[in-house]
Amino acid sequence: MKHQTISPNLDSDPRLPTAAPELTVVLPTYNEAENIPVIVGKIADAMGGIAHEVIVVDDDSPDGTAAVTRAVAKSHPHVRCIRRVGRRGLSGACLEGMMAANAPVVAVMDADMQHDETRLPVMLAQIADGADLVIGSRYVDGTRAGGGFHKKSRAKGSELATSLANMITGSYTTDPMSGFFMLRRDVADTVAGTVSREGFKILFDIVSRRGAELDIREVPFEFRERVAGESKLGFLVTVQFLGLLVSRYTGGLVPAQFLLFALVGTSGLVVHMASLYGLSASGMNFTLSQTIATYIAMTTNFAFNNEVTFAHRKLAGLRFWRGLVTFYAICSIGALGNLAVAERIFEFGAPVWLAGLSGAVMSALFNFAVTKLVTWRDG
Ligand code: GDD
Ligand code: MN
Repeated sequence: MKHQTISPNLDSDPRLPTAAPELTVVLPTYNEAENIPVIVGKIADAMGGIAHEVIVVDDDSPDGTAAVTRAVAKSHPHVRCIRRVGRRGLSGACLEGMMAANAPVVAVMDADMQHDETRLPVMLAQIADGADLVIGSRYVDGTRAGGGFHKKSRAKGSELATSLANMITGSYTTDPMSGFFMLRRDVADTVAGTVSREGFKILFDIVSRRGAELDIREVPFEFRERVAGESKLGFLVTVQFLGLLVSRYTGGLVPAQFLLFALVGTSGLVVHMASLYGLSASGMNFTLSQTIATYIAMTTNFAFNNEVTFAHRKLAGLRFWRGLVTFYAICSIGALGNLAVAERIFEFGAPVWLAGLSGAVMSALFNFAVTKLVTWRDG
């Protein structure tokens, strides 16, 4: 593969390494310290003589992944670390790594050895052959899943999510949720402005928006067991992804974030009723029980929204408590609005359920818009 090296007014300096990387491998990480030295070596073995660089994009992992990466980089200058502080999110991390890439081709893979690094040169050859995007697929040959899905539920869940995702993205790939893919740097540049920084599924996002325009190819691989550490793909990630699917299905009419916010609100209703019954059963008077139940539900709503809906702006430490106070304040205003709207509509002769529902929807919209702006504002 031929690549033009553009070096404005810079003659090559014999003291410096000359080979510009042909491939950048982006490794998003959260608590992968143990895996970094191993994966860097494995990638080097797999790449043979092909010049490459490795960018670890770490969300300030408490296990010191960033420090380990810098230690590795001392003897392996083709490795560097982007340490993101105060931010979480796989898609955003992948995007940032891709944007920092020096090579004309970029790959993204897990840092935990679940993806088969020996496929990298094969994928690179596909790009050289004209592909825009090459996806490492776990499903090319039927539904082979590999040992990485050690829980049966995970394999089933993944299959279901894949068929749902395929319905929405069209059938451009058998594995639109893969975390293992490679694309031309300039393709990454064109999608960068539009892909969502939230959630887990950057590939799904690229394929669902640009699938029709791209030459997409697949390379099968076996999804291996994670070597060290644990998976971050839990229940919350699945819920976030379902939100993304519905949002995409409605053509973006219903933002994924609002769906999550509404879902959390519904869970708050359950918390509220359970607390109310518990408290009044223990002999507390109704007004006090109702007040305390309201605050308990607001608190769990805040915590869930912080984890799921606004995971990418997650508040921690002092900012968590400050956020909780603004959340209480905004939701209280929302509740007053709810009452006002419901009363008005009721006075106009609407049935009770309609009046009540209108008030609830109104306050949910208000709470969402204002807490997004105030409680979870950027920066
Ligand atoms: N920077 C950053 N920030 N990295 C993250 C974050 C985050 O918030 N969450 C996870 N990662 C890193 C992990 O450290 C790992 O290197 C990679 O992203 C994938 O996370 P895993 O926790 O290993 O995901 P998984 O193996 O359960 O999920 C696999 O299957 C999914 C599809 O079902 C992965 O291949 C995913 O990429 C894939 O989407
Ligand atoms: Mn993994």
